Amino acid sequence: MSQAANINMPGSGPAEILAQSLLRLPQLVKIHQPNNKLFVENLTLFQNTLKTLWADEGRIDIRVHRGRLYINKARLNFSPILQVTAVKLMEYFESRGLFGFSFDPKPDLTNEDIIDFIKKVNLSQNQPAPLDYLAEALSGNWAAPILDDNFKITFLFSEESGVMGRPLVWNSTPSSEANRARRTYSRALAELTKLNDNLSGSTGLVNFAKSRRVVQDMAESLFRNENILLSLSTIRDYDDYTCSHCVNVAILSMCLGRRLGLGKMELATLGLGGLFHDLGKVDIPIDLIRKPGKFTDLEYEEVKKHSLNSVCRIFRLNSDQSFKAKLLLPPFEHHLNLNLTGYPDSERRFPLSLFGRIVAITDLYDALTSSRSYRPVPISPDKALEIMIKKAPLEIDSLLLKVFINMVGIYPVGTLLLLDSRQVVMVSGTPAGAEAGRPQAYVLEKEDEMIKKGELIDLAEKNEDGQFVRNILHCFHSSEFGLFPSDVLL
Ligand SMILES: [Fe+2]
Ligand SMILES: [Fe+2]
Repeated sequence: MSQAANINMPGSGPAEILAQSLLRLPQLVKIHQPNNKLFVENLTLFQNTLKTLWADEGRIDIRVHRGRLYINKARLNFSPILQVTAVKLMEYFESRGLFGFSFDPKPDLTNEDIIDFIKKVNLSQNQPAPLDYLAEALSGNWAAPILDDNFKITFLFSEESGVMGRPLVWNSTPSSEANRARRTYSRALAELTKLNDNLSGSTGLVNFAKSRRVVQDMAESLFRNENILLSLSTIRDYDDYTCSHCVNVAILSMCLGRRLGLGKMELATLGLGGLFHDLGKVDIPIDLIRKPGKFTDLEYEEVKKHSLNSVCRIFRLNSDQSFKAKLLLPPFEHHLNLNLTGYPDSERRFPLSLFGRIVAITDLYDALTSSRSYRPVPISPDKALEIMIKKAPLEIDSLLLKVFINMVGIYPVGTLLLLDSRQVVMVSGTPAGAEAGRPQAYVLEKEDEMIKKGELIDLAEKNEDGQFVRNILHCFHSSEFGLFPSDVLL
């Protein structure tokens, strides 16, 4: 446990340095002589970092699994730089058909050994069979490619997070569509993080072409499989709440938009409006955003500025004015209620836009169902919907809310259900037109200390007498069991 904590050092811990070096060295080896100062510095950093990790852990495996970076069994903490690194490393590994690298302890490791390893990895790219080449070229070496994704994640839950104190191991095989969607999600997180950084560091216009492309990819994937996209919205990155919240709001908004019959172009615009709805939060001190207790009046006034700040931030994006204008309303309106109470204070007396009303719903739902610094245990999805129903029709558009509830279902994706068959299942989705409260779900099976994803069942299934085969006895929030829906469903 202490070793995992060491690996998870925030900022530039050994794990981050190792990952970044793995990206940097293949480029440096192409352009520099072995005695180049910068190159030698990077080689030495890589060498020392590996030796530090070897001393703590023994063999070191670095791999990308479902869009996340792992060193041995420990998932690296989120940081803006690391998220970008993870996506790039994933692409780097994938272009060579790899899942990662294993490094066996070699006390007398030299810079020449590292150069030899990196050169072979670079050469593999131009081989007819890169993997075979690499497996042979590195056979018996201290560094070896990881050729399979047979990886079991071990979740180590801490006392503080209030979840299970024992490890759980997942062993599920995600579909290629799920893998693709996961990658899109990671890219969205990375691009949004980069965009936030660029906006705060620049006075000129900031490019957002990549964010635009990611949202378009999400809209495409929505037309292929709505359930997978909805499952993605259950990803909660506790280390970087704001970015994952914005990506989730973009996803939920697009899903709702699609149920309303919007086309791909409109969905992409709506998705971007959702993605950027809290962009102005970069102007608020991070300590204030993460404040565990209630805001003072003064602090709340500060927080309320973020809607207008988001609008200002969008003006600084590099795009034509008419396109930017389409993105402004969700950020401006998402904390305004249907009866125009809420904030920002405005003299306007005309109704909220459709996109603004959509994002107001998805923003509230995601905020309620996430754990926040002032509310570590999230509200369960059914309770969140109950709260929202009470706000309609005065504050929330009741028609849109009805479509939303229909979409997420009474038992939203990721909810745990105890059935009268004594099975515990996790909801994977409610097909459009399905009977209310009768979702589809995966059976969870316990095996030693492992929980496995079993068969997919349909709770709408009836026997010959027209009776439902299974009924729901009880409903739980997945966090009550320390489970992350996205790890089961994707
Ligand atoms: Fe907001
Ligand atoms: Fe928000």
